[in-house]
Amino acid sequence: DFIKEHEYSLIKGEVKCAYEKLLEKGEPSEKPTGWLTLPEDYDKDEFERILSASEKIKKNSDIFIVIGIGGSYLGARAAIEFVKGANYNLKKKDTPDIYFAGNTIDPDSLSDLLEMCEGKDISLNVISKSGSTTEPAVAFRVLRAYLEEKYGEEGARERIYVTTDKKDVVGKLKHFAIEKGYETFVVPDNIGGRFSVLSAVGLLPIAVSGCDIKKMMEGAKKASQDFKKPENDCFNYAAIRNILSRKGYEIELFASYKPSFLYMNEWLKQLFGESEGKDRKGIFPASVIYSTDLHSMGQYLQDGRRIIFETVIDVLNSKSEVKVPFDKSNIDNLNFLADKDLHYVNKQALLGTLDAHVSGGVPNIVLELDRMDEENFGYAVYFFELACAISGYISGVNPFDQPGVEVYKKNMFKLLGKPE
Ligand code: PA5
Repeated sequence: DFIKEHEYSLIKGEVKCAYEKLLEKGEPSEKPTGWLTLPEDYDKDEFERILSASEKIKKNSDIFIVIGIGGSYLGARAAIEFVKGANYNLKKKDTPDIYFAGNTIDPDSLSDLLEMCEGKDISLNVISKSGSTTEPAVAFRVLRAYLEEKYGEEGARERIYVTTDKKDVVGKLKHFAIEKGYETFVVPDNIGGRFSVLSAVGLLPIAVSGCDIKKMMEGAKKASQDFKKPENDCFNYAAIRNILSRKGYEIELFASYKPSFLYMNEWLKQLFGESEGKDRKGIFPASVIYSTDLHSMGQYLQDGRRIIFETVIDVLNSKSEVKVPFDKSNIDNLNFLADKDLHYVNKQALLGTLDAHVSGGVPNIVLELDRMDEENFGYAVYFFELACAISGYISGVNPFDQPGVEVYKKNMFKLLGKPE
């Protein structure tokens, strides 16, 4: 009852127009749509350099630090947790622990990280497309000084990797990297931060975690082929979320039943929030991990204001099997679940919640993912990027800029007394 057949068939024309507009060529700075063809059309030599660098880092480092903010870190963190699990760092493994810095200015976080680095071998990858973002620049200064102190300038050079714009401009990261002799990787001109996870921005950290980045690109390539068809899941998703938004469902709540989807949720919020939220328009993106958050947000969802629709990501297969054991005493009355796999139990939670929320007046879109591996990550990334860009054009905004982000920076610099 949430959507009528005619609404759906009428918006299809808008989706088609939006897609055609997306395909029109434009200046990379105005229309950075390189991510559309990236899965087939990426720099193969650089890809090999990424693999070699990741092998070197795996051999010579206990800790790998990724410095970046927004689109320069969320995708990599999402991928690593998606494929390797939220407890990647705590697991026994033959790859380095991976920590993320430069996404906050909080001194305690950086000081904790320095403490964790004591007695360990470190490499770092600083990532900034503009090469001038304050948060990562400050963290890089601190961590570079730490590495130079530990290994000397020469030694540090072997452990610092820079991913940035290819233009050499004085005062920017690329120029600095050339002067210092660091190995550099390129953020392509025609790919913006939040669309860049499948470029060097995401691929180096992801490869260091031991993920197969070739499979990731294959997944994205499959998506790019599937979504060239005139009728496809990506267009349908873009259509439905826009119909719902026009009917007053102003908030899209991304809901997953997998805690290792947490950073994918963060990535999704940035992708949609920064792309659509402008000109006083945009669906507000929010996220939950169920069933955890059913015990905190469940009440609101069932019974609060009817302004939310949920986009549920249903992962059809789990990596592991954990069965509920039979217990003779049955003190907890759980024997009705004996021998049931938790994947099955989790699925019943999803189905039960879906039914409850829909009958409570919350529209639900269900997106199925086969499993949480590299290929599905690449596929999902492409799916959401394309849906997001199409949605932006449908609602009449430029999905590729983020002018609003400048306002806080201007105020902060003024307060800090930054010279003009
Ligand atoms: O999507 C975006 O463009 C932003 O979120 C950027 O990724 C973020 O602001 C970081 O910018 P930069 O990579 O230039 O340091």
